[in-house]
Amino acid sequence: MSSPDSQSVSAGFWDTYWRGTHENAAHREGGPQEPVLSGFWTDFFRRELALRPEPAVLDLACGNGAVTGHARSVAPGLQVYCSDYSLSALLELERRHPGCTCLVADAARLPLAAASFDLVVSQFGLEYAGEAALGEAAGLLAPGGVLALLIHVHEGGIYRECELNRDVLRELQALEVLPLAQAAFAAGFALNRGECTPETFKQAERAFTPAVRGLEQLLRDRGPAAAGGLPQRLYQDIAHMYRRMSAYEPADILQWLAGMQGELQAYTGRMQSMLDAAWREDRLDAATGKLLARGFRLLQRDQLTVPGHALPAAWRLVLTRA
Ligand SMILES: C[S@@+](CC[C@H](N)C(=O)[O-])C[C@H]1O[C@@H](n2cnc3c(N)ncnc32)[C@H](O)[C@@H]1O
Repeated sequence: MSSPDSQSVSAGFWDTYWRGTHENAAHREGGPQEPVLSGFWTDFFRRELALRPEPAVLDLACGNGAVTGHARSVAPGLQVYCSDYSLSALLELERRHPGCTCLVADAARLPLAAASFDLVVSQFGLEYAGEAALGEAAGLLAPGGVLALLIHVHEGGIYRECELNRDVLRELQALEVLPLAQAAFAAGFALNRGECTPETFKQAERAFTPAVRGLEQLLRDRGPAAAGGLPQRLYQDIAHMYRRMSAYEPADILQWLAGMQGELQAYTGRMQSMLDAAWREDRLDAATGKLLARGFRLLQRDQLTVPGHALPAAWRLVLTRA
């Protein structure tokens, strides 16, 4: 299980992500699984909401509300409790799905009454919150309620995508583009102010050039969309500012470089947190066993697959509380 400190670090990574305008769900790195996930949730909510006139529904680690959106497409205006530890995610959720009740909380420590929900759902969320989160979610269900989870599969399709993105970002970090850019910009500004010689500036530029060539090679090898397009944006922005250096204040460039470094770290951290969260089958076995021992009954336990794709998109685990 992760420590409170590592929890708050990864909360920061997710918050950085959700602070951007992410209309898509947070697992969209891989793309093709989307219709399969939507299909699962639409069928699930059609079936379960038809049985319950006024259901209490909780979407755990909800992000900006992908699952809540599916629930509301079946039952427009449905009041859903939405919980995530990223405030930015919930602010975006409130904008997309007005009228839901939002709660900023760690999924392993939810300040909610036991047995108070009919449906507890989570898509690629609960597994991030460690061992305690499953017991917590189970305890919130009322008798007859249903727990439905889609969970990252270790070495599944999304896992492979995240691994690739993380590796691209590691390659990028190894090129040291940002520190070398910072040194080159600093020398350029010093030259403009007459505070260094042209030779000193050229030295900084000579040190920076291999990093730029390395970045160009990385973009040729991996494509402009690699790692969410972040390396491509870095390249374009640096090229733009470098050519027009005299139009910028040094402090603005420094601020931009620091912001970019934060974005790269957050992206890498988010990819790593997805990899760490993914369940192997033995983890699924243990989780299923725990719930059965608490009197739950298994409704569905399998892999969700995307037609034409060899790797699974998710573990699907659905149980009802006796
Ligand atoms: C892959 S995203 C999935 C979001 C959403 N369920 C969806 O399908 O788009 C994972 C979400 O889990 C949240 N999260 C990660 N660890 C958490 C924790 N310990 N407690 C609550 N939320 C957490 C993140 O902020 C993020 O919104």
